[in-house]
Amino acid sequence: MPEPTSPAAPDQIVVRPAGPLTGRVVVPGAKNSVLKLMAATILGDGTHELSNVPDIVDVTIMADLLADIGVRTERPEPGRLRMTNDGDLTPVAPYEHVERIRASINVLGPLLTRCGRVQISMPGGDDFGARPIDLHVAGLEAMGAEFKFAHGEVDARADRLHGAHITFPFPSVGATENLVCAAVCAEGETTIENAAMEPEIADLCTFLVGMGAQIEGIGSSRLRVVGVASGSLHGAEHRTVPDRVQAATYLAALGVCTGRLEIVDARPEHMSNLLDAFVEMGMHIEATKEGLVARATTRLRSTDIQTLPYPGIATDYKPLIITLLSVANSVGIVTENIYPGRFRYVEELQRLGADIRTAGHHAVVRGVPRLSGAPVRAHDIRAGAAMVVAGLAAEGVTTIHGVHHIDRGYDDLCGRLHAVGADIVRC
Ligand code: UD1
Repeated sequence: MPEPTSPAAPDQIVVRPAGPLTGRVVVPGAKNSVLKLMAATILGDGTHELSNVPDIVDVTIMADLLADIGVRTERPEPGRLRMTNDGDLTPVAPYEHVERIRASINVLGPLLTRCGRVQISMPGGDDFGARPIDLHVAGLEAMGAEFKFAHGEVDARADRLHGAHITFPFPSVGATENLVCAAVCAEGETTIENAAMEPEIADLCTFLVGMGAQIEGIGSSRLRVVGVASGSLHGAEHRTVPDRVQAATYLAALGVCTGRLEIVDARPEHMSNLLDAFVEMGMHIEATKEGLVARATTRLRSTDIQTLPYPGIATDYKPLIITLLSVANSVGIVTENIYPGRFRYVEELQRLGADIRTAGHHAVVRGVPRLSGAPVRAHDIRAGAAMVVAGLAAEGVTTIHGVHHIDRGYDDLCGRLHAVGADIVRC
């Protein structure tokens, strides 16, 4: 599949403060959904058509992994993927792929139920800390799988998975996705209690139902899956749910620049707790038929925020929130409940003059009137986007290095911000 973003694209973004932002931004499909939809095509023979696909590097990486497994990806036009599964699958996910993209763990459930065996490299930690897979493993073991771990590899086997009653101690997104995918072709009925309820999981379940799966409780914390015969799932068409984190990024940019933005295709119902927080901070936000309209006119008010599983405020929003609080009018306390180590970008904000102290999984953010531009680094996708927003709030020039991280999850962040009045250039 051709690279969506030129590999030669410059790895720096230069941002200067800009006046009010005005205009329309269209939000593309969600990275956190489309990668999982792509992995799910392993389950159904035939041709799958995915639309509203973001033009991001992680899609290309997932397509490369799936090509090695035996699912072909074509990009017939921008925003569309055609994926073909002839049923001739090699259930191996080697280190070269797994280390590049966390979502490669999402091939585990589909391959196990489809092929009865999977060899997958153990996913490593991320820039924001350890990312274990014990809940995935325990759930699949309850469904009859056997696991061996050696030399950094997971070897899983199951002649045919069977249904099980699984209660998660924590609503893990990745484990919910893997178990649902494994259950759709297992023998009998699987119930997952305390399932994660993210809109991207509902999106995956809807795609699976389009392929012929039987799933009840979509969007709730209790999913009931009745297994169908392995091999009976078929190709399906699906439109990827819009990306709530990208929508939040444009709102955060508005929050520091002021102005009025129409965010087309945003789904306010998927981000209601975040929108409530932004309103409390002083933004005006209205749902519209097409998405939402937001206005910001003055310096934002500080507030306290904690990240929680959906429908709580997502951990992915947190770098953006801390950036907003860095220039808000008072003190805000941010508590991270999902990935306690996810504060590395704070050092970069401090380089820009932000007054932030972290202790354990808390950050105390004392707003300053203005940040001060400097060279900074994007450590991961969301932290990179937060650096861009910080640059919009900083006097002088902010140069963000390591932009390839941003490309993994953002579809032309620079171009979209430039189009609504931001002083931003990739060079
Ligand atoms: C998580 C976020 C998701 C975000 C993504 C990328 C939550 C609940 N999930 O999804 O919103 O888009 O990161 O930033 O907010 N855990 C275990 N054992 C496991 C699996 C997970 O202990 O087998 C723990 C993790 O260490 C973490 C928590 O559960 O503390 C959430 O993990 P999970 O939801 O599975 O992570 P992702 O799917 O990566």
